[in-house]
Amino acid sequence: MNLKDLYIDFFVSKGHKQIPSSPVVPENDPSVLFNTAGMQPLIPYLMGQSHPYGTRLCDYQKCIRTNDLDEVGDTTHHTFFEMLGNWSLGDYFKEDSISWSFEFLTKVLHIPKEKLAVTVYAGSATIPFDSESYNKWISLGIPEGRIAKTLEDNFWIAGESGPCGPDTEIFYWRDESEVPESFDPEDVRWVEIWNNVFMQYYKDSEGGVTELPKKNVDTGMGVERTTAILEGVNDNYTSSIWKDVIDLISTISGLPYKGNEKSMRIIADHLRTAVFISADPAGIKPSNTDQGYILRRLIRRAIRHARNLNIDINSDWEQKIAMLILDKYKKYYKELEENANVVLEVLKTEKEKFNRTLEKGLKEFEKVTKDGQDITGIDAFHLYDTYGFPIELTIELASERNLSVDEAGFQEKFKEHQELSRTASQGKFKGGLAGNSEVETKYHTATHLLNAALKIVVGPDVHQKGSNITEERMRFDFSCDHKLSEEEKQKCEELVNNWIKEGLEVIVEEMSKSDAIASGAECMFIEKYPDVVTVYSIGDVSKELCGGPHVKNTSELGTFKIKKEEASSAGVRRIKAVLIEE
Ligand code: ALA
Repeated sequence: MNLKDLYIDFFVSKGHKQIPSSPVVPENDPSVLFNTAGMQPLIPYLMGQSHPYGTRLCDYQKCIRTNDLDEVGDTTHHTFFEMLGNWSLGDYFKEDSISWSFEFLTKVLHIPKEKLAVTVYAGSATIPFDSESYNKWISLGIPEGRIAKTLEDNFWIAGESGPCGPDTEIFYWRDESEVPESFDPEDVRWVEIWNNVFMQYYKDSEGGVTELPKKNVDTGMGVERTTAILEGVNDNYTSSIWKDVIDLISTISGLPYKGNEKSMRIIADHLRTAVFISADPAGIKPSNTDQGYILRRLIRRAIRHARNLNIDINSDWEQKIAMLILDKYKKYYKELEENANVVLEVLKTEKEKFNRTLEKGLKEFEKVTKDGQDITGIDAFHLYDTYGFPIELTIELASERNLSVDEAGFQEKFKEHQELSRTASQGKFKGGLAGNSEVETKYHTATHLLNAALKIVVGPDVHQKGSNITEERMRFDFSCDHKLSEEEKQKCEELVNNWIKEGLEVIVEEMSKSDAIASGAECMFIEKYPDVVTVYSIGDVSKELCGGPHVKNTSELGTFKIKKEEASSAGVRRIKAVLIEE
């Protein structure tokens, strides 16, 4: 039977109610990006609120810890893991909690007690030595030498403030050699498998500690680690949790696990976490902030490592791996079944997006480091902004070549860039009640000016092929057979900005379609317009058939800036530009 099922059955038999796993993105806790422990969704109840399921609870909770994201690749680190937990909300305390943990480990999982050791809280000026836990362990037959007393490591709190308390941790001897009589928690062959926290305090953000209304128990056991132990493997990725995923990566790449462990572990771990994040009801999509940024980093790092294994990154490799993961876990997490299509779409879209720039970005990386140069902040920002390289990816690439990255310089450029986009998007709030459409109206007018500028800079044959306006930016597609040079882009910007400075009047007239054409008005799809049309003229620089709306005078527009110029389809280029409020 599966460890999760054994665990839940055992605690249900001890009077616990199973509660469902909460989403990985906390529902009411903006202080963390993800649930990092089973207790996180239970904080209000640990603080005294009564839980609808009663005072004895158990579950398996999806957790994500990304502070060691870059450590993933070794035998034990994972960004996503499942935590088994049982709780007492003012019900049983140390005695039962320790007895049941011991019973589960030795009677259900059949771990010999000779392979176990524990730590207990040594006591400080304010909180006494945990003699109750110590005596309990002795009574269960754990010899004195296998009970270590520690201070910091035996006081548990999630982050800086919140419910907390002394704990007792259970360790397992994961080595072939004889179990030493005396337990040293620093010896890496002893691995922690379970943590029982006796939560009776609350630490506020000032550091003040008060008693909670009730004494609680909060425990946590990692599924990945315990499974590896039970199966007798030292590399978590060779346990039954990962084996089929690793085998699939091996099949897709045509390479054995041995010799390619790091990239295969990264792909397996990162895609599993990406699957769980994108299946979450919070609807997270890859982006450049918060959870979305973590999701983006995970997917992009997985792609980079797939490329290292010579996997054709444009094939559906990640879909196959994701489908296997969805299939493995859907029995336990119904959202994986419900949102399977969303997950596959998120992965595909992000892959396609990154693959468009990855090769060019890697070339650029080689270029800027070709003589063994370290990466400047500007280069790192360029790799981020133009090629979509998360800074952490640039750092990883650099460290593989023993090069450094000027992270502070990158942050500075990044902040400057954020300021710019913030000012651009804040335009919409100017003037208090100014609605979104006011910003969009400005972009409409800017579109006409850009169209006119392109006709001067590139040639009279440039025609609009499409446009899309949001509150944040304008996008303009136009016929053109080449990539615009820096000079051409600059000239366009200058022309548009000069026209803005000149304060040209925008005039709207109604006329017959034939008169409009005769007057030389620009029009995208002539057949779509009725017989009587609206024509907008801007000074004498632009005349276009258009439904509007537009500003009255170009002086209202702010500063025009081209952010990007790229291919849209054959013979069509695309410009993305912003207006920056003065
Ligand atoms: N909340 C405790 C932990 O995460 C059980 O270790």
